[in-house]
Amino acid sequence: MTQAPLSGRKILLIVGGGIAAYKALELVRLLKKAGSEVRTVLTAAGAEFVTPMSLAALTGQPVRQDLFLPEDETAMGHIELSRWADLVVVAPATAGLIAKAANGLADDLASTTLLATDKRVLLAPAMNVRMWEHPAVRANVERLKGFDGFHGAAVVGPDEGEMACGEFGPGRMAEPAAILAAIEGLLAGPGGRPLAERHAVVTAGPTFEPIDPVRGLTNRSSGKQGYAIAEALAALGAKVTLVSGPVALAAPAGVERVWVETAREMQAAVDAALNSEDGAADIAVMSAAVADWRVDGVASGKIKKAPGGPPSLSLIENPDILAGVSAAGKTRPKLVVGFAAETTDLEANARAKLSRKGCDWIVGNDVSEAVFGEESNTVTLFTRGGEAERWPRQSKAEVARKLAARIADHFRA
Ligand code: CTP
Repeated sequence: MTQAPLSGRKILLIVGGGIAAYKALELVRLLKKAGSEVRTVLTAAGAEFVTPMSLAALTGQPVRQDLFLPEDETAMGHIELSRWADLVVVAPATAGLIAKAANGLADDLASTTLLATDKRVLLAPAMNVRMWEHPAVRANVERLKGFDGFHGAAVVGPDEGEMACGEFGPGRMAEPAAILAAIEGLLAGPGGRPLAERHAVVTAGPTFEPIDPVRGLTNRSSGKQGYAIAEALAALGAKVTLVSGPVALAAPAGVERVWVETAREMQAAVDAALNSEDGAADIAVMSAAVADWRVDGVASGKIKKAPGGPPSLSLIENPDILAGVSAAGKTRPKLVVGFAAETTDLEANARAKLSRKGCDWIVGNDVSEAVFGEESNTVTLFTRGGEAERWPRQSKAEVARKLAARIADHFRA
């Protein structure tokens, strides 16, 4: 599946204070046109040059200006905001913002976000030519570029030309089209879409096993965790087939959803996805809460109340989809990840499932705490032969992004 590089990508744009801030509005427009989702942070100095209203109107999202605003923090905390993004762009990046980021100073929302993010940062510097050439600024930029991993900053511009202050030289912010091209390059690069060319099959939600045409057996899975995983894998470039039981969720952008109802339909859809024309899948993440049993002999008409008392239901076991995928032979995905929903002895039960089902990883889920339908989740990742990795309670979106990043690392290694 080829996708436009910016379609469905999440860009956090930090607008600093400088005359070039007006160009940030055009950048937002171009990003939106290319299909990206854009959220913005406006610094106090930035708000001297563009209004929050313009950014809100162009992004369709509230503009974040304050580190300590309860309304903002409850909607999406600043740490979550910094992780939400696929890329953080600072335009204009002023000498002050660059200095703060290079020295780990976090005294407002913009600088705190830059320190907290686990994504790459693209700087579009804009300042007076003397300032740009000052050794302090040069050292700060070099320092930011040199930080390892995701944190190494990329820089676009500045351009040379006549400046608002009347002087001439490098210091003008790069044009929005050039910043857009730099964003595309970063998102298409090895750090941006590490799962490009990979096919992932994700199961999510409950299954529904009919008793008769109007009744059935099901469970309380909301599908939120599985949908978030499908979205996070797609954001890293994977082609994702989401095999979903009945849930009330929209399909994430760029994900192919296959609706199923029963466990056997889910198994058939997973088999079809594993054997699709474009070859076997690389990754399977089985997060669905598959009903263990189905009713033997589904009634063709509605079962009526009868004087003899309630009917008795005879149950038969459903196929274990995860075990089947793990044992699929030639079409077995290289990485098979299962879930273990447990109320007691998480580690022992999850490890037992890991070997019984023959998968590679198990995401252990303590369902004694509220999980079903919640926005957050506490999980522990168990790998074959590896130490248990306990992740703190965090949003399901965050769990998904972390899992997708772990999967990308696995394929990189
Ligand atoms: N699973 C599956 N097919 C089934 C049952 C479970 O693919 N028929 C998968 C789930 O998607 C999950 C993993 O197996 O990835 C474990 O599911 P869980 O409900 O925790 O385990 P069960 O096998 O049902 O075991 P038990 O109910 O005894 O805990």
